[in-house]
Amino acid sequence: MFIVFEGIDGTGKSTQVKMLTEALQERGLAVQSSYEPTNGQYGKLLRESMTRPEGRYPLAEELDLFYKDRQEHVETLINPALEREEVIILDRYYYSMMAYQGARGVDVDEIRAKNEEFATTPDLIFVLTVPIEVSLERIGVRDGEGNAFEKRENLEKCADIFASLEDDNLFFIDATRSPAEIHEEIRRLTLGYML
Ligand code: ADP
Ligand code: TYD
Repeated sequence: MFIVFEGIDGTGKSTQVKMLTEALQERGLAVQSSYEPTNGQYGKLLRESMTRPEGRYPLAEELDLFYKDRQEHVETLINPALEREEVIILDRYYYSMMAYQGARGVDVDEIRAKNEEFATTPDLIFVLTVPIEVSLERIGVRDGEGNAFEKRENLEKCADIFASLEDDNLFFIDATRSPAEIHEEIRRLTLGYML
């Protein structure tokens, strides 16, 4: 089973990935979690670009690196885990590309189509949603002081794209609640899907 968490920065994705991973492990399931951008050769370059003085890569290069990072992730970690019938839980996947590179002007439907050529489709997608103010507060930045991906205007565009997503098994989750309340809803939806 393949589960993906999405949403803008500071919505609580990594908190929920951890909670769901532990809850499923406690039920005796083999669960692995991971994230994009990864710590692989391409993901490292992308992470560095978030804080380096030159700023983000030009759009074409940034897209290319995210595609290569995802391809490597699918081939070396995601698909092998699914073949072993494990549960794999991701903090970000290609919906983030639709939102963040879409916000830079790339056609969102084209991004989806190109990803679906090689990236395994998840069984469940949880899009965590909070108002931008809450997101900025949680990432501990004041307006305009986040890293290169976390500028308010950019996050607003990304949030709009996330809100427009439609997919089978895609759920919007109100992430303004406490971590425990959010987890309870996600756990219920996940176990419901597994039955
Ligand atoms: P993301 O992975 O989406 O960037 P994190 O899980 O890292 O988000 O959470 C960002 C910050 O907000 C962390 O300091 C975390 O402890 C806090 N946080 C996470 N979930 C909640 C929540 N439901 N309510 C309040 N604060 C939260
Ligand atoms: P993330 O690891 O969530 O940031 P942090 O380590 O600060 O919590 O992701 C880094 C950034 O990468 C995030 O702002 C969104 C962006 N991103 C894209 O632009 N395109 C993509 O395809 C993916 C997966 C992430």
